[in-house]
Order: sequence, then structure tokens, then C-alpha cells
Amino acid sequence: MKPINVGLMGVGTVGGGTATVLKRNAEEISRRAGRSIRLFIAANRDAERARAVCGDEVIVVDDAFRIVDHPEVDIVVELIGGTDIARDLVLKAIANGKHVVTANKKLLAEHGNEIFARAQEKGVMVAFEAAVAGGIPIIKALREGLTANRIESIAGIINGTSNFILSEMREKGANFADVLAEAQRLGYAEADPTFDIEGHDAGHKLTIMAAIAFGIPMRFESCYLEGISQLTAKDIAYAEELGYRVKLLGLTRRTDSGVELRVHPTLIPESRLLANVNGVKNAVLVNGDAVGPTLYYGAGAGALPTASAVVADIVDVTRLLTADPEHRVPHLAFQPDQLQDLPILPIEEVVSSYYLRIQAIDRAGVLANITRILAEHGISIEAVIQKGAVGDGAAEVVILTHRVREKYANQAIADIEALDSVAGPVVRLRMEELNG
Ligand code: NDP
Ligand code: HSE
Repeated sequence: MKPINVGLMGVGTVGGGTATVLKRNAEEISRRAGRSIRLFIAANRDAERARAVCGDEVIVVDDAFRIVDHPEVDIVVELIGGTDIARDLVLKAIANGKHVVTANKKLLAEHGNEIFARAQEKGVMVAFEAAVAGGIPIIKALREGLTANRIESIAGIINGTSNFILSEMREKGANFADVLAEAQRLGYAEADPTFDIEGHDAGHKLTIMAAIAFGIPMRFESCYLEGISQLTAKDIAYAEELGYRVKLLGLTRRTDSGVELRVHPTLIPESRLLANVNGVKNAVLVNGDAVGPTLYYGAGAGALPTASAVVADIVDVTRLLTADPEHRVPHLAFQPDQLQDLPILPIEEVVSSYYLRIQAIDRAGVLANITRILAEHGISIEAVIQKGAVGDGAAEVVILTHRVREKYANQAIADIEALDSVAGPVVRLRMEELNG
């Protein structure tokens, strides 16, 4: 049988890993796929670098449009990133009737509704396992393995770079900027690492998972994003004293009034498996009504782990090439005419527990005033610690609250900040028990 011809666009970290895996495991891959899969053509801005990675038997060009227009290419693999040229290339490939594999979560979260609609019209597949949680087959699990379930919630550590930074800072006392530079050197970070640090990348991945889990369109514009750049070592240490670890968590949950879709630093009890996911590892906790909680763990970034997911998609597409498009697994798990536009809840309507750090004047009655305000807003307290005087008669009060709607927490925080005896803004972090 004629081999499947792969056209690879972008031979950087993931593209290079994909070329390596396709070559190294060629025999096993073809035994699994039922026919041989070969890297036929590759495009990279720096064509010479691509030639060094791909070898002389592969056609190498610097113009990726030559791949999407090439009549002999069966599967186009987009590993350039971003939403400019990548969007044009993917749409052109689809228009040309080519199947697409991509690791580009930004592209799918922001333009996925358009891309999947075009792919549906043309009867081609767009596969994207590598777009979420690197090498972990979480898309396959959500879309196929858990298809019997009504998914209730997903909570995940889904940005390797920020988890690597938090882990190295905690374990080695390393400096934020140094660890970020190391994550870039190791190929974990996005081209613009602000996307990692400020929660955008995790938001892209969460948006994709929520679409598949709940049968809703991509709604990235409604995703609440808060990153790790404002986190202080002090709050991480206080949280630990109280038995919690701080992680950048992506959380989506179905509620009676809509879907929660949020990314932010989160206190997680240290006994939970998620709290112990360190370094570049990712983990995703999925709650299904039939199966209960299930947890998926593995490398969240890096050349070979991500290539593992890219190549799995290439094999999947190869196996399904001859299947009638109507009988393939739908791109977003639900049949395209069965998507529901459930509302995404604004962050003020989300219900969570909170960690509050308040800098107060160390005098009688201050704590009583703070707890009175919390009580007035219906917020009950789980734990309080007072950290001695921090200078000039000031003390810090750290409070863990029980669950409350965010708008009431905001009102209470504003009232606390207005007290004469409180200095500066209250530090607030969200907290999730994640007890299934
Ligand atoms: P890299 O920056 O390492 O690679 C991108 C490659 O694309 C570079 O080699 C670049 O070439 C090439 N390129 C850029 N523009 C063009 C163009 N117009 N035509 C041809 N080639 C071009 O990125 P990554 O491999 O890290 O990421 C690729 C994608 O995979 C992104 O969408 C990313 O979000 C995603 N991803 C990344 C993971 C990771 O661990 N790194 C994990 C999961 C997903 P040149 O260097 O010459 O400019
Ligand atoms: N920059 C991403 C991360 C790559 O650090 O998780 C994997 O998607």
C-alpha cells in the first residue's frame, strides 16, 4: 500500500521531536497503523536547520504554503504556533482537502469554531492531542474513553512551564527569572513566555477541554485568567504552614447556572495527588458521573513527550482515512449539531474558598473587626493564623474561608481594606479541596 505522506510545518522543539519519533519508531508505527508513514516534506523558516534534523531523504522548503498545496501530501502537521500564518495554513490545508494534526492550542481555543466548521464541511480530520497537556492522552480519554459519562468537572495542572517554575522555587529556592530562562532553554515555554506565566496557555487548554467535556463551543474570550507572576514566596510559605500547596490550576465545572472556566493560582490540600505534581509534569483530574474521579499524569511539555501525542494523532488519522466522515469520532466529541451554548459564569459568580492575607496594626480588636466583616457577608472561617509583629506594630493575619460566591468575598475584602487598622491591599488566593 502507498505510504502516508506527512508534511511537517515548523521544525522547532516539537517539530524536531516529531521528525525524530517518526524516524526512530518507523517500523513499530507502521505495524500499528497498517501502512507505512513517512516524513515526505518539511518546512521551516530556517530551512538548513530543518534539513539537519530531517535528513536528506526529506524534501525541505522554507515556504510552508508549498506543503498545504502539495498534491502528494496526505496529512499536514502544523507545529509553527501562533494564530497568524498558522491559521492561514490550516484553513488552506482544509480547503485543499488535507487532514491536519496540530499542537497549537492558541489557534484552536481562539479560532477552533471556524476551523472545525470548515473541516466538517470538507470531511477532513483536525487532530490535536498534543495541544493539551503535552504527552498525556487526555483528549482521547475525554472524547472516547469517558464518552459514557456526564462530565461534571475538570481540574488540571496544564502548564508545564509555570509548574516547573513553582516547583523549582519551592524545592530549591530558585529565582523566578532564572527558572523561566531554564524552562525556555529546555523548550517548555511558549515563544512568548508571558502566555505561560499569565495563565493564557492554561486558559487555551482549559477552553479546549471544556468544549469536549460539556459539548460547548470554544469560549476562550470568557475564560478567567490569572497567572503566577504576582505570587509571593511568603504566601506560598504560609499556605504550606496551613497544609496546602499553591499550583496554577485550570478549573472548569458544570453548575446549574452555567459553566465555570477559570485559571488562577490555587491552594490545594497537600494530601491530594494534584498537589504533588512537580516540575514540567502535568496532571488532569476529571470527574464523570459514572466513573467518578480519574487522574491523568505525565510530561506536559518538551520535544519527545509532545511528539508522542503528535505521532499518535498521525497514526489515528491514518487508520481513519478510509472511514466515512460521518462515522468518525466528532472533533469536539459531540455531534456538531448537538453543541449547546451554555453560559460561561463571570468570575464574580464562581463559588470558591479563599486564602486572605491581611496586613493589620497589631492592636486589640483588629481581628474581631475583620471576622465581624466576614460574618456580615456570610463568610465562615476555616482557619486563622496571626504572624507576629512585622514592624511598626503591624501584624499579618492569614485567614482561610469556607466556600462563598466570589462577589461576596470581594465585598468583604473591600470593607476590610477600608478599616483604619488595615494597611494596604488584602492578598487573596482561591482554594479548592478537590475531594472528588
Ligand atoms: P518552536 O519555536 O520551537 O518551533 C516553531 C518552528 O516554526 C521554528 O523552528 C520556526 O523556525 C518555525 N517557523 C516559524 N514561522 C514559520 C514560518 N512562517 N514558516 C515556516 N516555519 C516557521 O515552537 P515549539 O515547537 O515549542 O511549538 C510549536 C507549537 O507546539 C506551538 O503551537 C506550541 O504552543 C505547541 N506546543 C509546544 C510544546 C512544547 O513543549 N514546546 C508542547 C505542546 C504544544 P525558525 O526557528 O527558523 O524561526
Ligand atoms: N508552554 C507550554 C507549557 C507547552 O509550558 O505547558 C506545552 O503546551
